[in-house]
Amino acid sequence: MSIQDNFRLAMRSYIYSVSVLSNKTIDGNLNAITVSSVTSISMDPPSLLVCINKDSKIHSSLKVESSFCINLLRKDQQDISNVCSSEAMHEQRFDDPNWDIKSVPHLINAQANIFCKVDKLIPYHTHTIVIAHVTKSTSKDDINTLTYVDGSYA
Ligand SMILES: Cc1cc2nc3c(=O)[nH]c(=O)nc-3n(C[C@H](O)[C@H](O)[C@H](O)COP(=O)(O)O)c2cc1C
Repeated sequence: MSIQDNFRLAMRSYIYSVSVLSNKTIDGNLNAITVSSVTSISMDPPSLLVCINKDSKIHSSLKVESSFCINLLRKDQQDISNVCSSEAMHEQRFDDPNWDIKSVPHLINAQANIFCKVDKLIPYHTHTIVIAHVTKSTSKDDINTLTYVDGSYA
């Protein structure tokens, strides 16, 4: 097996938390993408990183100083994860009634909403590492996070 195949297998053993990164452009266009690559960086400043494929629709809208929200999904939000990771379902991405799209789009019933502003964009081959500081964060007391392991929701 190639190093890529072995690496892919190793990464499939990780248990990931599933989030949707959402934003709105200056023109009012809404974007959302399912992501598992969210990692906190530091508490001072409160900051995180997320890796975004350069081929994704949202990629060009992620600019320095632009805002986005990380919506950590709950176990009953698997459908939203599927819609936001399917190229065929772009039109349905904001159909769920729990989206609040007035300002930075966010899911009001998510496990957590982490609002961020982009500080740095670091291109790395197929992906861009988006480094952002947190402007506001809320979370629900009962933890019921949607997880993903070995290619399936867990
Ligand atoms: C559980 C899960 C986690 C994912 N994590 C990421 C990620 O961290 N970064 C990324 O660029 N794509 C990730 N993807 C893939 C994108 O969600 C998918 O390619 C999406 O269709 C791209 O958006 P687009 O269709 O608007 O171009 C993930 C998909 C799933 C199902």
